[in-house]
Amino acid sequence: MAVPIEPHFVDSNHDALYAESVNNPDRFWGTLARKRLRWIKDFDTVKDCDLKLGKISWFLGGKLNVSDNCLDRQVEQHPDRVAFIWEKDKTGDHETITYKQMLEMTCQVANTFKQYGVVKGDRVAVYMPMTPLLAAVMLACARIGAVHSVVFAGFSAEALKSRILDASCKIVVTADQGIRGGKAIELKKTVDSAVAGCDCVKNVFVMHRTGVQVPWVDGRDVHLEEAMKQQPTTCPVEPLDSEDPLFMLYTSGSTGKPKGLVHTQAGYLLYAGMTIEHVFDYRPGDVFACVADIGWITGHTYVVYGPLGIGATCVLFESTPVYPDAGRYWEMVDRLKITQFYTAPTALRLLIKCGNEHVTPYNRDTLRVLGCVGEPLNWTAWKWYHSTVGSDKCTVVDTWFQTETGGIAITPRPSSDHSTPKPGFPMSPFFGVEPVLYSKEGELLKGNDITGHLCINEPMPGMARTIYGDHQRFIDTYYKPHPGVYFTGDGAYRDADGHYQITGRVDDVINAKGHRLGTAEVESAMNKDHRIAESAVVGYPHEIFGEGVFAFLILKDGVKDDEKVIFEDLEKLVRKWIAAFAVPNVFLIVPGLPKTRSGKIMRRILRKVAASEYDQLGDVSTLANPSIVEEIKAKHMLLTSKEQ
Ligand code: WT7
Repeated sequence: MAVPIEPHFVDSNHDALYAESVNNPDRFWGTLARKRLRWIKDFDTVKDCDLKLGKISWFLGGKLNVSDNCLDRQVEQHPDRVAFIWEKDKTGDHETITYKQMLEMTCQVANTFKQYGVVKGDRVAVYMPMTPLLAAVMLACARIGAVHSVVFAGFSAEALKSRILDASCKIVVTADQGIRGGKAIELKKTVDSAVAGCDCVKNVFVMHRTGVQVPWVDGRDVHLEEAMKQQPTTCPVEPLDSEDPLFMLYTSGSTGKPKGLVHTQAGYLLYAGMTIEHVFDYRPGDVFACVADIGWITGHTYVVYGPLGIGATCVLFESTPVYPDAGRYWEMVDRLKITQFYTAPTALRLLIKCGNEHVTPYNRDTLRVLGCVGEPLNWTAWKWYHSTVGSDKCTVVDTWFQTETGGIAITPRPSSDHSTPKPGFPMSPFFGVEPVLYSKEGELLKGNDITGHLCINEPMPGMARTIYGDHQRFIDTYYKPHPGVYFTGDGAYRDADGHYQITGRVDDVINAKGHRLGTAEVESAMNKDHRIAESAVVGYPHEIFGEGVFAFLILKDGVKDDEKVIFEDLEKLVRKWIAAFAVPNVFLIVPGLPKTRSGKIMRRILRKVAASEYDQLGDVSTLANPSIVEEIKAKHMLLTSKEQ
């Protein structure tokens, strides 16, 4: 008998459902898409993919609107349900926004954009603080078929500019200032310098977060709230094809140029909603809190589209884990009666250091599921989350996913009996996900207790569809390394029971403080300094950040400047071209870099040196300059001995 496709969090037939999801994806996802989404026109083809061409499409022939699904459909059923609890930077200062209010706000933004000539397919850059208006701007784009490109408000003007230009954004939406941890962030000023020289940008919309006076360009700049006030609170939705783009989001790769990953409508929304229900056991009346910034995929999927798509109540968190003190999260859990909490390992490690006295005063009895994402959740952090925060009563879900997968792909499934979480293991694939491991040489690794490149066999509905403006790069990065499957860029271990643990990136990408960073981006920023001949950036284990950023530098001949001065200038360059979070934690001037005979830097060796694992350098005989390794090692030893 066919498995009935109505998955619940606790499913007696979880295994049968999972099997159905991978063996008969058309039936599994087709049924769910019809049940869980509201269609303007039904689809005729569930899935049409050709991975060699990087072609992924779901629910073809169907028309729908994501904003209609997240707002109108919800308002028809529960207009006064709270959509967002906006937890402002200042403690205790929260505001609630109902679904009806979100819909009205979104329509006013959509009408404003239309008035300024934004049409279907236009790209909209968004550089805003964590406010409900940010979510409304995204949903307004979705409503009219414009494509939003949210840029994390910690990025520099140069980084924002390159993203605006890459996508030829027609408008930019920002705020006078942001406010985080009690400090003002100059968003409008940053946008002003980013937009100078961007001919594509016609208007800059400015919301008012702090209300300070900011420089104003007449004719270009528009007061967002004032313009909204002139607009009706209704706006028809644009019927969109399932595969029309919904948004793009830049992420780092192994070259200096970030990739604008494009996500589309129906598959993304369905996958986002399914994961939030099934990984977090979201039930009506729950208060879900994902404290990630909307500027990253976690925020897109688990603050905006996932929760609203299933009619959830979600916390929108503007502050930091340590403002005004390290009890912020748990005080908020107590006050807002949060049931699911989703954060990053780096935040947990920071809080562990601050002491349990910041946790225990607060009531955390409402919590049921504690989630983590972004980097490996080490045993100590897992244990602390489970025991201290969760009083040994909550399910901890170490979830693995990427900007590219759109939503959680590997995660403990509390509904599956044999998925009792193991600390540090994202465990098992979600519905529709078939992880496979490959050796570096491209051989499929069968069996258990084995480590390899983590790939995914079949594309799930939520996968990214292309890199904006560069489909060939999409194919080359994700579908060429192991032909026929999606290559994640991560390494993974499959243990004796078949459970997965992520071993870290296998490409030149660092996960620092939960932010993904291309080493080539940092290098190219530093190489702009006239004194730098060459640089090589690697990640190294860092107690709190997960990975720290380590910069090896070669100076040009004859440079006499003081090291400290050079390092300060390099720091400024990284801040200017990327962001403060990308600034290396350690700089080290070395006489040369380990290179192969073809001139390729052997980063493996640098990573081992940076981690002080001198006895694990491996074979250095293939280097063009093997003796350099000893010199670099000596320099590094000197540095670490100075630090101690
Ligand atoms: C990379 C994706 C989507 C989450 C936010 C980051 C690493 C993610 C885990 C985990 C170990 C993890 C991977 C992945 N990562 N989750 N549970 N355990 N590593 O999104 O910026 O696209 O980064 O984050 O290396 O490839 P992102």
